[in-house]
Amino acid sequence: MARILKEYPSVALKPENLDGKIDFFRIFGRAGPVHIEIGTGKGTFLLNQAGAQPGDNFLGIEWARKYYRYAVDRIGRWGLTNVRIIRTDAATFLADFIPDNSVECFHIYFPDPWPKKRHHKRRFICPANLEHLLRCLKTGGQLKIATDHTDYFEQIKQVLKVGAAQCACPRLEQIDFLPTAGAEASEWVGTNFERKYLKDQRPIYTLAVKKT
Ligand SMILES: C[S@@+](CC[C@H](N)C(=O)[O-])C[C@H]1O[C@@H](n2cnc3c(N)ncnc32)[C@H](O)[C@@H]1O
Repeated sequence: MARILKEYPSVALKPENLDGKIDFFRIFGRAGPVHIEIGTGKGTFLLNQAGAQPGDNFLGIEWARKYYRYAVDRIGRWGLTNVRIIRTDAATFLADFIPDNSVECFHIYFPDPWPKKRHHKRRFICPANLEHLLRCLKTGGQLKIATDHTDYFEQIKQVLKVGAAQCACPRLEQIDFLPTAGAEASEWVGTNFERKYLKDQRPIYTLAVKKT
C-alpha cells in the first residue's frame, strides 16, 4: 500500500516565499551553525545528523518532488525542529539565496554522476558552483563529499585542485573525512545510496576540505 505522505509546513520551505538572501535566524527561529545538504534524497542523512546535533540547524535541498515529499514526511514524523527542506535546484538556490560566509558545512553525498560525456556539464560540482560554495562557507567551514563514481571523483578533485595529499586551491585545506552520525561500521555517511552501492560492492570515495 502506498505510504501517505504528510506535508509539515514547519519543515517545508517554499521557494515562492523567499525574497533575496535568506535570514537563517528567521528560517530556523534561532541562531546556530547552519549545515546544508545538497540532494537530500529520502532525508536519511538529515534525520540522523540533525538528531545527533540538536544545537545545529540543517537545510536540505532536493530537486525531485517524490524524494522531497518523502523527506519532509520523515522529518515531520520524527519531530525534528532543526531541519528545513526546500524543493528547488541547488545551483540557482545557492547563487540567489544563500548569504556570504553563512554556512558551517555543505554535505554533498552521492551527487548525480551524469555518466555520459555530453552530460558532464550537468554535474553539480563544477568551478561555477564551487565559487558559490566557497562564498557561502564561513572561514573554517567545511565541504564534505562522497561518491561511488570514479570519473566524477576525478573531476571533483580537479575542480577542488586536490592532489595526492594537498589541496592547491588557495582557499581550501584538505582535512580528514569523518563519518557522519548515521554511518554504521564500514560506512561513511549511511545514506540510502551509500548502502545500495556498498551492497553492489562499488568503491566509495570521500573528500573533505575546510575554507581557510
Ligand atoms: C543519487 S541521489 C543521492 C541522494 C542521497 N544524498 C543519498 O546519498 O542517498 C542524488 C539526489 O540529488 C538530487 N539532485 C540532483 N541534482 C540536484 C539539484 N541540482 N538540486 C537539488 N537536488 C538535486 C536528486 O534528485 C537525487 O535525489
